[in-house]
Amino acid sequence: MNNTAGELHNQIDSSAMNVLVLGATGMVGRSWIDLLSRNEIEYTALARPQFDLANPELISKAFGGSNSYSLVVNAAAWTDVDAAESDQHGAMRANAHALGEIAEYCKRVDSTLISYSTDYVFSGNTNTPYETDSPHEPINFYGKSKALGEQLLIDSGARHLLIRTSWVYAPWGSNFVSTILKLAEERSELRVVDDQRGRPTSAQQLAASSYNLLCKGVEGTWHLTDSGECTWYDFATEIVRYAELDCKIHPCTTAEFPRPTTRPSYSTLDISASLEKLGTIPHWKDQLHLVIDKLNSLSDLETQ
Ligand SMILES: NC(=O)c1ccc[n+]([C@@H]2O[C@H](COP(=O)([O-])OP(=O)(O)OC[C@H]3O[C@@H](n4cnc5c(N)ncnc54)[C@H](OP(=O)(O)O)[C@@H]3O)[C@@H](O)[C@H]2O)c1
Repeated sequence: MNNTAGELHNQIDSSAMNVLVLGATGMVGRSWIDLLSRNEIEYTALARPQFDLANPELISKAFGGSNSYSLVVNAAAWTDVDAAESDQHGAMRANAHALGEIAEYCKRVDSTLISYSTDYVFSGNTNTPYETDSPHEPINFYGKSKALGEQLLIDSGARHLLIRTSWVYAPWGSNFVSTILKLAEERSELRVVDDQRGRPTSAQQLAASSYNLLCKGVEGTWHLTDSGECTWYDFATEIVRYAELDCKIHPCTTAEFPRPTTRPSYSTLDISASLEKLGTIPHWKDQLHLVIDKLNSLSDLETQ
């Protein structure tokens, strides 16, 4: 398979790189650390409590003293969509104003900033993929906070790659794949919504493809997901099939499965520009199989 997770194009001098990874404990942050370690690229990883988006002093400290980074990867964010509705101030601080401050520091010290955003900056009231310059139209507070973060990043004038992604999963952290695997082991039947379409994204592939876009010398706003598209029902069905679990997945509607916060019903991001730059973007099923294989090998290690 081409361009599997972690394969780098290596068209920049990575020996001269010094990377700061913010949000090192998250799915994407861990994927970056895994990638940088395997490719022997120098990095510093920060996470709570040493680095907190809620605390401007800790953001300042990350860039203070003799610290100098050629690349800053911001994988830290308020990602709890439902909790963003009940603590709007907290979500706005983390996803918008903290990102604005990080971008200002990057501008000041001439670091390139990679920061991640989301399909949730769009409403989902369409049936064609969102382009990178489609207008913001968030329908929940998480989306609003990420949309303002995007604007503050762009306004800062920092050299940046703003990468929107969607439906992220990884061999670590809590995500749809790990949740379905756990539920399918416990239950014989599950109902999963079949009227929300989008693009799953392997966090490891996202980190590698982000790095490869950087190597191409591009800047600005990009969309990166796995290729193909599906509903959550399709995604769950493939998880259970590949993991060979004895659980029947039934399709249901969003109305039958109400959640506190409205999600976009169609959030496929147009990845054609990234595809053109990268040459290939693997299909979500291939990436899912790699992640399930990795989860199995990690659990084999735990039981030894
Ligand atoms: N997950 C998705 O489906 C998805 C979809 C579209 C876009 N994105 C974007 O992708 C990026 C990476 O997210 P992810 O998928 O890796 O999510 P994740 O696994 O939830 O990781 C979020 C990271 O942010 C950190 N964080 C949260 N609040 C913080 C704070 N106040 N100060 C410092 N760090 C804080 C978390 O640290 P703790 O371990 O301390 O909580 C964690 O390291 C985010 O920008 C997210 O908006 C994600």
